[in-house]
Amino acid sequence: MQIGVPKESAAGERRVATVPDVVEKLIKLGFSVAVESGAGDAAHFADDTYRAAGAQVLPTAADVFAQADIIFKARVPSFDEAAQLREGSTLIGFIWPAQNPALMEQLAARKVTVLAIDALPRQLSRAQKMDALTSMAGISGYRAVVEAANAFGRFFNGQITAAGKVPPAKVFIAGAGVAGLAAIGTAANLGAIVRANDTRAEVADQVVSLGGEFVKVDYEEEGSGGGGYAKVMSEGFMAAQRAMYAQQAREVDIIITTALIPGKPAPKLITAEMVQSMKPGSVIVDMAAEQGGNCELTVPGQAVVRHGVTIVGYTDLVSRMARQSSTLYANNLLRLTEELCKNKDGLKDGVIHVNMEDDAIRGLTVIKDGAITWPAPPIKMPAAPAKPAAVAAAAPAAKKAHGHGGGGGDPMSARSLATVFGVGAVLFALVGMYAPASFLSHFTVFVLACFIGYMVVWNVTPSLHTPLMSVTNAISSIIAIGALVQVAPPLVSSGAGGVIDRPNTLILGLSVFALALTAVNMFGGFAVTRRMLAMFRK
Ligand code: NAI
Repeated sequence: MQIGVPKESAAGERRVATVPDVVEKLIKLGFSVAVESGAGDAAHFADDTYRAAGAQVLPTAADVFAQADIIFKARVPSFDEAAQLREGSTLIGFIWPAQNPALMEQLAARKVTVLAIDALPRQLSRAQKMDALTSMAGISGYRAVVEAANAFGRFFNGQITAAGKVPPAKVFIAGAGVAGLAAIGTAANLGAIVRANDTRAEVADQVVSLGGEFVKVDYEEEGSGGGGYAKVMSEGFMAAQRAMYAQQAREVDIIITTALIPGKPAPKLITAEMVQSMKPGSVIVDMAAEQGGNCELTVPGQAVVRHGVTIVGYTDLVSRMARQSSTLYANNLLRLTEELCKNKDGLKDGVIHVNMEDDAIRGLTVIKDGAITWPAPPIKMPAAPAKPAAVAAAAPAAKKAHGHGGGGGDPMSARSLATVFGVGAVLFALVGMYAPASFLSHFTVFVLACFIGYMVVWNVTPSLHTPLMSVTNAISSIIAIGALVQVAPPLVSSGAGGVIDRPNTLILGLSVFALALTAVNMFGGFAVTRRMLAMFRK
């Protein structure tokens, strides 16, 4: 089958739905690829690079639509593009069926099959590699920080220079979904002090792990609407949230808003008064501009200055990093194509089979051979929406259990800790009364080692357990001392007439070999630990 990639026709869209590297992989899967001339120009992929990868370059979009069996697109197709689809062909790209009912009708009338990448069931772990919403949101979160840095007249990181002291910029991120988390990581890496808020309390740990501080709203209400998405909050919560946001607006230099509830207009979180209260030169990047904006003063698609604050409402953040976003998007579509072209024997044969029995493919398929199949029935799997609620309910209990193990201060934990220590002391006294002295000294070291080991492992965050194991492994190379003792001559000679005893050659050889192995373990262990820890550092 042939995959066709027309140039994106939407104004300002710079992405292209496939890139030369991916073309090569599609060809290996058994497909041929046709690309419209100039389709990759705006993303810096020239026609020649597509030709070199094995694609055919066609002069116009009409040629691509007329020839290809499968069309890859990034943006939602225009009515004109939809009209050019061949009967029986397949369209893969963003569709947003709920927002585009007229387009869905038109596509169905063309008797095509449509796979909407935005309808992918993201809760399936198998779907992650195809999840273009996540890859695009990650890029836009990064770019939002870059746009903020561009509009902000100061450093992000604090500096002490001969010319004066610069405080770090304070960044507040509203909404810690995919885009928000990417923005938190980027701003923290630039050295800013980052705070974030989300209605879903479960994201607090993720905010912290990326170097941010989670700011809570002083109001108890569960914000999760299931499936990892938010729900519309009560008026009481919104009032408490507004008070907290007003305080943040006065304190911070940059606000990046990403708050969104699927299928609803973006919640208005930043009022005109909050904008007015910000320091002159501050910046707001409103990522939700396309859905109406999280800030009252946002102008979608533009950067405007209001009350001395730059409000960036660009709706093309992904397109502003076209080469990167095209590459990730092309990879998402490649992974989807791999899933689609597996035949009954699991072999990839260059022909797509839209298998409606496959949950991921069923979710994506919004039109099958001209029949609208959207929305897909809910996936029958461990009830995803119920899970977060159960987890949330279990969280306080889990916390208590943790506090208990770590010697927390509640009466129950104190009592059981006392029991454990009491029993231990009695056992130790018994051993001390009856065991020989030589055993006792080894036993004491053993008990202390167990205690220290337990305390170390218990107090290290679980995410750092792998580096901990690695460094422990490196430390275990202490056995090198045994080999050293064998290799080196004894300090005091035991031979007659003061002749220094030498170990026999076999022992010497084995010891040197053991030393070499231990050295690899030791240096390798520390090097690997260092690299692992570097991943956790800012
Ligand atoms: P997401 O659904 O993963 O994240 C939205 C987050 O907002 C969720 O964590 C949700 O809990 C939170 N939220 C909802 N209501 C809230 C409230 N009242 N207060 C605080 N937090 C609240 O969405 P994703 O993928 O991270 O995208 C974020 C936004 O960025 C969306 O509006 C999306 O359309 C937009 N976007 C904009 C682009 C652009 O070029 N401007 C490109 C890509 C995404």
